[in-house]
Amino acid sequence: MKLIHLTDLHLVPPGAMLFGFDPAERLRKTIERINRDHADAELCVVTGDLTDEGDFASYELLRDVLRDLRVPTRLMLGNHDSRQNFLRAFPDEPRDENGFVQSVHESSAGRLILLDTLVEGFGHGSLSDDRLEWLLARLAEKPNVPAYLLAHHPLQPIGLPHFEPWNTENWRQIMPQIAKAGNVRHIFHGHVHVDVGGTWSGIPFSASRGVAHQIIPDFKRRDADFVEDAPAFDIALIDAEGVLVHRFEVNDRHVVEVSASGLVPEGVQ
Ligand SMILES: [Fe+2]
Repeated sequence: MKLIHLTDLHLVPPGAMLFGFDPAERLRKTIERINRDHADAELCVVTGDLTDEGDFASYELLRDVLRDLRVPTRLMLGNHDSRQNFLRAFPDEPRDENGFVQSVHESSAGRLILLDTLVEGFGHGSLSDDRLEWLLARLAEKPNVPAYLLAHHPLQPIGLPHFEPWNTENWRQIMPQIAKAGNVRHIFHGHVHVDVGGTWSGIPFSASRGVAHQIIPDFKRRDADFVEDAPAFDIALIDAEGVLVHRFEVNDRHVVEVSASGLVPEGVQ
């Protein structure tokens, strides 16, 4: 399965700017690149912060811009989003029985479980008891099917003091329960605006710096420098053997030489 992981679009209303740039333009360029190189992907998931302030006009703009994307797309919420305005613009996005925008997508590589970690009005995330219960039930109902979690907020630390207050609250209690289920193969998250990956509680995770602004990683400071680098997105290649995550920047690379064919000659193993 080829999965596209987009995150942190931070769209603002048409005509407005964010930190002096147009987030919608960055998304359009990202979509152009995906359509050119990765239109064969099975699915694209956007892990939240779809908008910067959760206003309805920004969700309408998102709906318009996404019309050009040639890959089926699922949307998730981040701390900058508004559940109500999102659902006004995207009424067909599935919800759980408690009204949270979380659902299961049955893919060719297993179950993608899309989580809703939004706590309206706050920067940190939550898998409150009802949301966590829903997740653990999904993991338990098909224990032998590989599951992949997608969340806006990390469920583990990323080693940057700036983000310590903005994680999913109670992640220390939540992660062992997720690990205990035994079928989660990878966690994709957003929120952090830096490129980071690793393992926590034995579960691999990855996040990219996303489509809008980025943050310069600093292992000492509690504040952060925001920068405007090229938009980035991840491609995950998932099959029964493993999960491979590649990061792509939306810029024009300077090719210095075309390498000889890497095909292995016949008869050579
Ligand atoms: Fe964000």
